[in-house]
Amino acid sequence: MTKAALLLAMVSGFMLAAGAANAATLPKGSHKDLPCATCHKGGDTTKKPTMDQCLACHGSYNDLAKRTEKLNPQFNPHLSHKGQEDCTSCHSMHGESHLICNDCHAFTGPGTQMK
Ligand code: HEC
Ligand code: HEC
Ligand code: HEC
Ligand code: HEC
Repeated sequence: MTKAALLLAMVSGFMLAAGAANAATLPKGSHKDLPCATCHKGGDTTKKPTMDQCLACHGSYNDLAKRTEKLNPQFNPHLSHKGQEDCTSCHSMHGESHLICNDCHAFTGPGTQMK
């Protein structure tokens, strides 16, 4: 391989890696600028964050219940018979979120179309 070809291979390899990381792995919304290791312990992205890590920034389940108490008169996603359900059962940090309540219920309106 010539020097130029080697350099080209290195550069395009780097761009591929960076492109793939951006598309698949950047967290969305308010978390997009957070270092990966804020949620993935030791930067190991195979390790899913625990609920305690989310609550370290977001306070308590009660705090969240207060924030969404007027979201929708039909239900409060953070206060129900499901108790303190793991955040990531509903919220995805990288992909589509999913309101697990509607696996059984048929709630409509605000909060049912999660991003
Ligand atoms: C706000 C917390 C948070 C941050 C910051 C974060 N992640 Fe994640 N990551 C998660 C959660 C939660 C999951 C579990 C799946 C999900 O929620 O989408 C996950 C899953 C993953 C996965 C598994 C594949 C998948 O999508 O299920 C990879 C790879 C990953 N994260 C890479 C990264 C990289 C790289 C960064 C930094 C650019 C990063 N994450 C930043 C919370 C975070
Ligand atoms: C380093 C602090 C930090 C961590 C860790 C963190 N968040 Fe956040 N999150 C924020 C901030 C700041 C906001 C924007 C202000 C707000 O809504 O509280 C936010 C906003 C959100 C929102 C509203 C949507 C949005 O993007 O603005 C959701 C949902 C959320 N976080 C869920 C989670 C979950 C689930 C986890 C754990 C996997 C998590 N957060 C971990 C700081 C954090
Ligand atoms: C049963 C599903 C579910 C679970 C579990 C859940 N949430 Fe939510 N959360 C929602 C819904 C629905 C909303 C309304 C906003 C939306 O549509 O994304 C919301 C909104 C939020 C918001 C934004 C509140 C605002 O003022 O707009 C934050 C922050 C948040 N959740 C954090 C968390 C954290 C942290 C956990 C875990 C401790 C958690 N949630 C668990 C469904 C859930
Ligand atoms: C596995 C199925 C299932 C899931 C998931 C589920 N529920 Fe329920 N929920 C039920 C059943 C069954 C009842 C009792 C129905 C009845 O007899 O009224 C109920 C009752 C309720 C009620 C009492 C009012 C009513 O509609 O009867 C509320 C409010 C409620 N659920 C909210 C939620 C919320 C919020 C979530 C998500 C955090 C959730 N549920 C998740 C099965 C489920």
